[in-house]
Amino acid sequence: MKDVTEKQVKGIDYKNHQYHKLKQEKNILLPLLQKNNGIEKLLTDKLAIQIADLEKRNHELEKRTKEIADANKKLIINENRFRQIADNVNDIFWIGDMTNRVLFFINKAVESIFGISADSVYENFDTLINAVHNEDRNRFIESLSSKSPVNIEYRIIKPDGEIRWLRSKQFPVKENSCNQDSVHIAGIITDITEYKNAEQRSKYQQQQLIEADRMASLGVLVSGVAHEINNPNNFISLNAPMLLEIFKDILPILEWYYKEYGNFIIAGISYPQIASDIISLINGIDKGSKRIKKIVADLKNYARHDDKNIFCEIDINKVVKSSIVLMKSMLRKKTNIFQMKLYPEPLTIYGNFNRLEQVLINLLQNACDSLTSNTQGIIISTSIQPDNHSVIITISDQGCGIKPEHISKLTDPFFTTKRDIGGTGLGLPISAGIIKDHGGEISFNSKPGAGTTVTVIIPWRKPDNA
Ligand SMILES: Nc1ncnc2c1ncn2[C@@H]1O[C@H](COP(=O)(O)OP(=O)(O)OP(=O)(O)O)[C@@H](O)[C@H]1O
Ligand SMILES: [Mg+2]
Repeated sequence: MKDVTEKQVKGIDYKNHQYHKLKQEKNILLPLLQKNNGIEKLLTDKLAIQIADLEKRNHELEKRTKEIADANKKLIINENRFRQIADNVNDIFWIGDMTNRVLFFINKAVESIFGISADSVYENFDTLINAVHNEDRNRFIESLSSKSPVNIEYRIIKPDGEIRWLRSKQFPVKENSCNQDSVHIAGIITDITEYKNAEQRSKYQQQQLIEADRMASLGVLVSGVAHEINNPNNFISLNAPMLLEIFKDILPILEWYYKEYGNFIIAGISYPQIASDIISLINGIDKGSKRIKKIVADLKNYARHDDKNIFCEIDINKVVKSSIVLMKSMLRKKTNIFQMKLYPEPLTIYGNFNRLEQVLINLLQNACDSLTSNTQGIIISTSIQPDNHSVIITISDQGCGIKPEHISKLTDPFFTTKRDIGGTGLGLPISAGIIKDHGGEISFNSKPGAGTTVTVIIPWRKPDNA
């Protein structure tokens, strides 16, 4: 034991120390280890519960994802159906945020109605606004910010310049995403141009009906009045010539009396004056009465209801020749240059000889009245229209012509520039009515100072189809 070194003693101490230390640590660790086993079990149990919960949630999530995928599929199918409907209706329908002018949807009808692509409207909603007619644009813009339903009609100008009438029904749409200040608007736009045209046509026809009705009652009134005027006028027209004869016989007796006894007074007028004026006074009564007779005859003519059925096949060339025979003396008096150029063959139409003769006399009379010198000419001609469907009669004169502003009034009853020389303004309205009864047309071409050409066109009855 002597041999035990200090070093060896130190070694044994150290080991003893280590042994005690380990023993102490064992005493601490052993209860800890026992405790740890409990925690581990607790953790394992908790983990198991959480895993079960997660698995449950995962299952629900998978179910939900499937539901969303199904809903999505349905949405795509429905959207597809909606697009097909939207693109195949004639009306435009659209929806957008009109505060910020953002369009969410517009169907293809915008392309046919506005003539602009849907893409350009998506890009800039103003493209649509700019197409609205100047006079209607402000109303249209106002309607876009209305918070209540609007129904407006307005015009648009398409890129090719065509003007169309549209009707918009717009209403505000409530959406959760919509901020309170902005307005979401949905609208349906219908092209109502045809409807508007029909409406205008019907208004015009209604006006014409009223006018026709007015003219018909005027016609009845006129024939009644004309008849009433005719009776007393007959006294004048029959008695004036007799009065003239009476005075022609009385005048020599009065003349004898004047020479024998000197001047005397009749109705406050001295005899010599009576003697010089009485014949022209009675002639004046006679002329006036004849004029009344003509006016009454023209008025009756204008308001006539008879005669329409006396239509038969007649040769227009014969009508022309007959009217010229009747107008011969006047034509000779008024012009040195009168020409008649007739179509070389008979021109058969279905009509009333006397009435057409009356028209030509009227027109020739007007031509004569227009001449300011007998060196100015009148030409009457007949021909066939190039399409072979109608015959044409033209009466051309080199007279004073017609002012452009008078052309549209020529067939208005009582329009005349010749009232001072006895014109009544009934010649052309009567003529136009007669030509219309024959299914034809009358037109005027005139140059003031150079002359007038009146053209009458009447349907031709060709020998083959007569
Ligand atoms: N060939 C013509 N040249 C110039 N003016 C014409 C001609 N034909 C018609 N007019 C104008 O048209 C008007 C109307 O003609 P219309 O025949 O209806 O009546 P009018 O000749 O005046 O009277 P009337 O009842 O006696 O015929 C005339 O007053 C005249 O101003
Ligand atoms: Mg006339």
